[in-house]
Amino acid sequence: MKMSYPTILGSPIAGVVEALGPGVTKVSVGDRVACGTKIFSQKQAKYGGHQRFCVVDEAEVVEIGDVPFIQAIPLVSYTPPSALFSPHRLALTRPTIPPSPDSKNGKKILIYGGSSAMGSLSISYARLAGYTTITTCSARNFPLVQSLGADFIFDHSDPDTPRRIRELGKIDYWFDCIALPASASAILKILAPDGEEGAVTPAHILALLPYERPGMPKLPKGITAQMHLFSTGAEENREWRDWALSKGGFLERGIKEGWIQGVPPKVIGGLEKVGEGLDMVFEGVSGCKVVVEPWA
Ligand SMILES: NC(=O)c1ccc[n+]([C@@H]2O[C@H](COP(=O)([O-])OP(=O)(O)OC[C@H]3O[C@@H](n4cnc5c(N)ncnc54)[C@H](OP(=O)(O)O)[C@@H]3O)[C@@H](O)[C@H]2O)c1
Repeated sequence: MKMSYPTILGSPIAGVVEALGPGVTKVSVGDRVACGTKIFSQKQAKYGGHQRFCVVDEAEVVEIGDVPFIQAIPLVSYTPPSALFSPHRLALTRPTIPPSPDSKNGKKILIYGGSSAMGSLSISYARLAGYTTITTCSARNFPLVQSLGADFIFDHSDPDTPRRIRELGKIDYWFDCIALPASASAILKILAPDGEEGAVTPAHILALLPYERPGMPKLPKGITAQMHLFSTGAEENREWRDWALSKGGFLERGIKEGWIQGVPPKVIGGLEKVGEGLDMVFEGVSGCKVVVEPWA
């Protein structure tokens, strides 16, 4: 993604509403809220989250009640609920309000990368909606992923993992939250164990990065992949937005009532640590979300 330099990055954020733009009715000054920022779509520094005051879009703001800001930040991503529940993406049946995670609907979803920020939330949402979740992570992250309620957890470094996942039978949905050559290759070994020449299980893979890029494996005939890119403001997503982000909507209730769970925050601060935090993410984090405390 091209950004002009200098800029201020950072998303999502949490804090107190300090001032309202014209016509804002969803929240009031003093409300405790969390939301994604517009920095990557608007590309202006005032929208970046790595600062003490930041301009956000009313439509994306979620009231969080008494939930600590640090705890709310890893939970407020729109990516997993849009990937899973938008009618234009995987179109899973949405969880009831309140959810009944123990009533299974008999469908299975592979969420590759269960210890990632996006994968962990995806497990939580899919479970709330009654899906059987199959996921991968490093062995050290099994307890974390287990605590999110994943049904089947496999070590992504074990070469036998694709075969063992294949033994679980038909998988209805495929979500690659890692979308690196290693994850794509592992998913293809489940779907086409003998390569293009052998039997191929037709499937559509939703992925968080494009599959069509250098280094990624070629998809055999019958297997398609799509990168998940989602605009909460698009007209076609209005109905999803109402469900997820309206006042009293699923994210607000899910965060306040503890239904939505993800990786724990790893807090650093204050703002002078932003560069260090970006380096940590660049080098690769495991089972946590780096959160900058701007007032420390
Ligand atoms: N399209 C979108 O809208 C969108 C939105 C958000 C993020 N993204 C992209 O989605 C990806 C995930 O983001 P995130 O923030 O969720 O990531 P993250 O939390 O930084 O992911 C870290 C996890 O990735 C796992 N991992 C790293 N290398 C791996 C490999 N070779 N094979 C299997 N697992 C591996 C690690 O698992 P273990 O430590 O357990 O080994 C680690 O827990 C990023 O590329 C990000 O840019 C896209």
